[in-house]
Amino acid sequence: MKIEKIEHIGIAVRSIEEATKFYRDLLGLKISEKIEVPKRKIRIAFVQLSGTKLELLESMEQGSGIDKFIQNKGEGLHHICFETDDFDKTVNELKDKKAEFVDEPRMGAEGKRIVFLHPKNAFGVLIELKEM
Ligand code: CO
Repeated sequence: MKIEKIEHIGIAVRSIEEATKFYRDLLGLKISEKIEVPKRKIRIAFVQLSGTKLELLESMEQGSGIDKFIQNKGEGLHHICFETDDFDKTVNELKDKKAEFVDEPRMGAEGKRIVFLHPKNAFGVLIELKEM
């Protein structure tokens, strides 16, 4: 298991359009097209930076995970994603070490497998692990 970099930082926003005014128009950063993730009832867009990116997460409908998150905590930092070299090995190693996952590994929006570690054992931060 080798974790070496922050692949992206997830930020929950009410509106990607509104957030674009800040990240693109004010800060001059590049923002990707929106990607719909119907299974999760969210839309995402990536803010490009050197070596990493921000993942803006917007709810498509009431009751989605992002909707609930914003209702409870407001907009802001949602998760940090670490890239891992050998995904299966990492997940198995973490399972052996009794790490607590939010759910089972699945295919993420970018065609790489991802899994989330529970924030209660990660000092309040939701950690995403992503296949390199
Ligand atoms: Co993410």
